[in-house]
Amino acid sequence: MRLASRVESLPPSSTLAVTARAKELARAGVDVISFAAGEPDFSTPQLVVEAAVSALRGGQTRYGPVPGDPESRRVIAEKLTRENQIPGVTADHVVISSGGKHSLALLFQALIDAEAGIDEVLLPVPAWVSYAPMTTLAGGRVVEIPTSSANDFKMTPEQLERAITAGSRILVINSPSNPCGTMYSPEELRAFAQIVADAAKTRAPDLVVISDELYEKIIFGGIDHFSIGSVPAIAERTITVNGLSKAYAMTGWRIGYFAGSGAFGLKVARGVAKLQSQSTTSIPTFIMPAVSAALTKCESEVARMREAFAARAKIAYSLIAGIPGLVCPEPTGAFYLFPDVSAHFGKKSAGGRQITSAAAFAEALLEEQRVAVVPGEDFGSGGEKCFRLTFACDEKSIREGIGRIRAFIGSLR
Ligand SMILES: Cc1ncc(COP(=O)(O)O)c(C=O)c1O
Repeated sequence: MRLASRVESLPPSSTLAVTARAKELARAGVDVISFAAGEPDFSTPQLVVEAAVSALRGGQTRYGPVPGDPESRRVIAEKLTRENQIPGVTADHVVISSGGKHSLALLFQALIDAEAGIDEVLLPVPAWVSYAPMTTLAGGRVVEIPTSSANDFKMTPEQLERAITAGSRILVINSPSNPCGTMYSPEELRAFAQIVADAAKTRAPDLVVISDELYEKIIFGGIDHFSIGSVPAIAERTITVNGLSKAYAMTGWRIGYFAGSGAFGLKVARGVAKLQSQSTTSIPTFIMPAVSAALTKCESEVARMREAFAARAKIAYSLIAGIPGLVCPEPTGAFYLFPDVSAHFGKKSAGGRQITSAAAFAEALLEEQRVAVVPGEDFGSGGEKCFRLTFACDEKSIREGIGRIRAFIGSLR
């Protein structure tokens, strides 16, 4: 007996796998330092917790509206209008789902249409591990746009221009980026928008930009966050995805959302709501009041966490940059470093392990120095030279863990 081929061929999330292994070691009493999970070590702001608890106590436990309650959708539409300057967004354009990951998975299902020949997902790589499997599950094809540490892992306008074809359906923009920790400037994003607008008029009428802005509030490199959906020429073909996991320390709550603009944005919202109505229905109803509590009352907590991430980024980057043979751009957003470790491939560890790849490096590092990092293979081309390390943990762990990485690399022969 076998499972459906779409499941048989689906890779499990490598980040979740490494995190699980690190937790298993910790439970067994091993002194392991985990740089694997992409989640803040802070607690959810108390006001947000109170909003959900009082909804639960107040009996908000029945089925709710599929795309989310009207108040949360209104608050999100206002946020996107005011902060992100996206035109033509109303509450009706917003769909709330069980995490940004769920929003993205539903969007890929709603947009990719292999039968109609619009199945290409243009993906600057290295990229977050789930875009490619989501594409495949929706019957699409990933078209990788390669980048490297030498150019801050950023696609150029020329590369984008060359990648677009009549079959292009989705361009994924993820700024700030997981795993790269870098972000595009407003000028770079405006240049991409112009290319998309021009291509849409000629060879790629069905191209849609999905802008994954999960890390928009975690920025510290002096570059302003810019939503590509704010460029009027492509507003109606851009879907902005965001969520509460990262900025509000709410990874376990599972709240994500998206909104497009204008008539096509409405169409996408209704299509995705249909998909959601046939799968999860909605996020839990007593969680819904937490959305506006987070988005309207937690500015100072978000700023405090951002400052902490900024300080950790400085420490982590300076320690990593000081390790011979690692090449890594300075992070400007999110909470990741993605060093290229390929200069050490072909060497042998003190424990006798051959470092033939990022996966071999990560495994040896975990076994010999008890430090968990995510090998870069699953992040797409270019990732196979790198490993991802998150600095969403306390300073002591950062110093101790990177010290162990340094010792491990120093011992390679
Ligand atoms: C780039 C990016 N997009 C989306 C997500 C999904 O986050 P969540 O489902 O917790 O909202 C993540 C989480 O790691 C991410 O890094």
